[in-house]
Amino acid sequence: MPIGAITGDEMKKLIAANWKMYKTFNEARTTSRKLFDATESVLPEGREVVVFPPFTALQAVDMSFVGHDAYQVGAQDVYPAVEGAFTGEISPHMLLDAGCRWVLVGHSERRHVLGEDDALVAQKTLFSIEAGLHVILCIGESLEEREDGQLAEVMKRQLLSALENINQNMASEYVAVAYEPIWAIGTGKVAGPEEILETHALIRSLLVERYGELGHSIRILYGGSVKPDNAGSIMGLDNVDGVLVGGASLQAASFSSIILA
Ligand code: PGA
Repeated sequence: MPIGAITGDEMKKLIAANWKMYKTFNEARTTSRKLFDATESVLPEGREVVVFPPFTALQAVDMSFVGHDAYQVGAQDVYPAVEGAFTGEISPHMLLDAGCRWVLVGHSERRHVLGEDDALVAQKTLFSIEAGLHVILCIGESLEEREDGQLAEVMKRQLLSALENINQNMASEYVAVAYEPIWAIGTGKVAGPEEILETHALIRSLLVERYGELGHSIRILYGGSVKPDNAGSIMGLDNVDGVLVGGASLQAASFSSIILA
């Protein structure tokens, strides 16, 4: 293993909240303060928290977390350009300026509701990292693809296309992958331990194939109907280095339980 490489034991668990299109500035400020107050003094050493609010509430969350490295703010989307005539879009530099350290890229709602393809996901990944943002790259198969036996092919295509221009050092420092089976997002249908183990092992082997030993230092999160009562057992599985939580992250109490699970 190269000097300085992170081993599985040293890797911090990343517990991420995707608030999607929920919460005004004031709601975001209240929720982020509450979850910070409920967890900060008891946060285990090896954990980091990232909250992804809507753009209009980035600053509200940043204000709650400022000065605390284990609590960070991220954006749910980004446009791959420095600046320009792109009405409605927002650049990596603007996100950094608003206090973001992270961005979500390739979420299934953006792929399937907003029509993003692998090429755009790859551009967003590259631009964000070049600007200095950490990326949670989301990948996941539909139920049809899983039932058709296409899981491995879909994982490989989504992962390797997004990482095509991301070298070893960029990947190990700036990338986390979130495996979110589409059929488990917002449905209450969590993937079972066997399915999570199998898919995370597959993603790990693709990362190691692509980056050698440094592929072991890239965090792989699970997302899809994570709740306070299943978060602990999911995070205890092999190759699960954190969780990405939608619905159950909207209430401070339930997200706090997940952070401490
Ligand atoms: P969920 O969403 O936890 O509500 O299933 C997860 C996600 O979309 O990231």
